[in-house]
Amino acid sequence: MKPLKLISHSPEQTQDMGKHLGKLVQAGDVLCLTGSLGSGKTCLTQGIAWGLGIKEYAFSPSFVIVREYQGRLPLYHIDFYRLEQLDEIVDLGLEEYFYGNGICVIEWAEKGMEVLPEEKLVIRLDYIAETERSFSMEAEGERYQKLIEELSLKLKRREAWSWL
Ligand SMILES: Nc1ncnc2c1ncn2[C@@H]1O[C@H](COP(=O)(O)OP(=O)(O)OP(=O)(O)O)[C@@H](O)[C@H]1O
Ligand SMILES: [Mg+2]
Repeated sequence: MKPLKLISHSPEQTQDMGKHLGKLVQAGDVLCLTGSLGSGKTCLTQGIAWGLGIKEYAFSPSFVIVREYQGRLPLYHIDFYRLEQLDEIVDLGLEEYFYGNGICVIEWAEKGMEVLPEEKLVIRLDYIAETERSFSMEAEGERYQKLIEELSLKLKRREAWSWL
C-alpha cells in the first residue's frame, strides 16, 4: 500500500487536514502520530477534534496520558511522551479505548507500537522549516487504506497542498 505524502505550509493547514480526518473517521479508528517534538502532532489532533465537532479542545500541555472528549464520537487523545517503558503503557490497560466506540489519537506512538492494535493509520510528521511540515500516512489494514483514499480525494480539491 502506497503512503500518502504531502507538505503542510502552516499550522492552519495542518488543522484543516485534521478537520477532514475528524469528519471521515469511524468508531474504532486508531490514528497513531509519530515524529519529533513540535512537529505538529497536537496541532493535527486539534483539527481532528474540531472535525468531530468538539469545541472545548485544549491545546495546553498536560501530564494526563489519556484525555477524553465528546463529539460526534468520543475522542481519546493519548500521549505516550512521558512514558519511559513499555510496561507502563501495558499497565494503562488501553484496550477499552482501542477497541471501544470512539476514536483514538496517539501522540508519540513510536514509544509503544508493540502494544497498539495491528490495524491502524500511522501518520509521521517531520519538521522541514519554520512553518513547513511533511506528512506521511501509512495504512495498516484495509480500513485505513480506504480512509487515506477518502482523505486524498478531499485534499485534492484544494490546491494549497504540496504532494510528494
Ligand atoms: N505546518 C505546520 N503544521 C503544524 N504546526 C506548525 C506548522 N508550522 C508551524 N507550526 C507550529 O509548530 C508547533 C507544533 O506544535 P505541536 O504542539 O502541535 O507539536 P507536537 O508534535 O504535538 O509536539 P510534542 O512532541 O511536544 O507533543 C506549533 O507551535 C505550531 O504553531
Ligand atoms: Mg503534542
